[in-house]
Amino acid sequence: MSNFVIAPSILSANFARLGDDVDHVLAAGADWVHFDVMDNHYVPNLTIGPMVCHALRKHGVTAPIDVHLMVSPVDRLIGDFIEAGASMITFHPEASEHIDRSLQLIKDAGLQAGLVFNPATPLHYLDYVMDKIDMILIMSVNPGFGGQSFLPSTLDKLQAARARIDASGRPIRLEVDGGVKVDNIRAIAEAGADTFVAGSAIFNADDYQTEIAKMRAELAL
Ligand code: DX5
Ligand code: ZN
Repeated sequence: MSNFVIAPSILSANFARLGDDVDHVLAAGADWVHFDVMDNHYVPNLTIGPMVCHALRKHGVTAPIDVHLMVSPVDRLIGDFIEAGASMITFHPEASEHIDRSLQLIKDAGLQAGLVFNPATPLHYLDYVMDKIDMILIMSVNPGFGGQSFLPSTLDKLQAARARIDASGRPIRLEVDGGVKVDNIRAIAEAGADTFVAGSAIFNADDYQTEIAKMRAELAL
């Protein structure tokens, strides 16, 4: 079993049949469910909240639900997502008043915690919290919408994040989000990523299983 994780972003799923679509993508070989929360304030779009996360759990989804908070303020929603059945919660550090406190709220509930970095957000937010995080999420598009193109400058940033993880000696996952496709996933892995969010590439494909298998084949090369 490889250490690579494929986490389809349900932002591109069929919201009118969300439970079935999530079942389908998991049966097709996805590892996690990536759950994009947008508030029309921190990002210019509005998506789904804790009620939908809870509904997926009630529907029977047992896979890890990877909640990506694109909201400001951050903290109150952390509690709601803990109750709703999230497995890990990541947030954008510049959207939190107190980064350490937000991370601690997540950790105290026994969930995995992580910070998310927009393309132009510096990694120095990691300086004093490496001991508290389980994941670093590098955005390879500006957040807010699915279906955008991967920004090549992200590859250097992934390498820099990988160096920080290696120096920490801690088992921190390095996730990438935005524009990930079969034809770039290998280069992204070579830059250090081990966890891949893909929305439109998977949900717009004719066959989810084939698309995920193609991604895994690229990763196995
Ligand atoms: C963007 C979201 C992403 C997005 C990825 O703000 O965080 O998760 O849905 O979509 P694709 O893979 O289509 O770029
Ligand atoms: Zn996301």
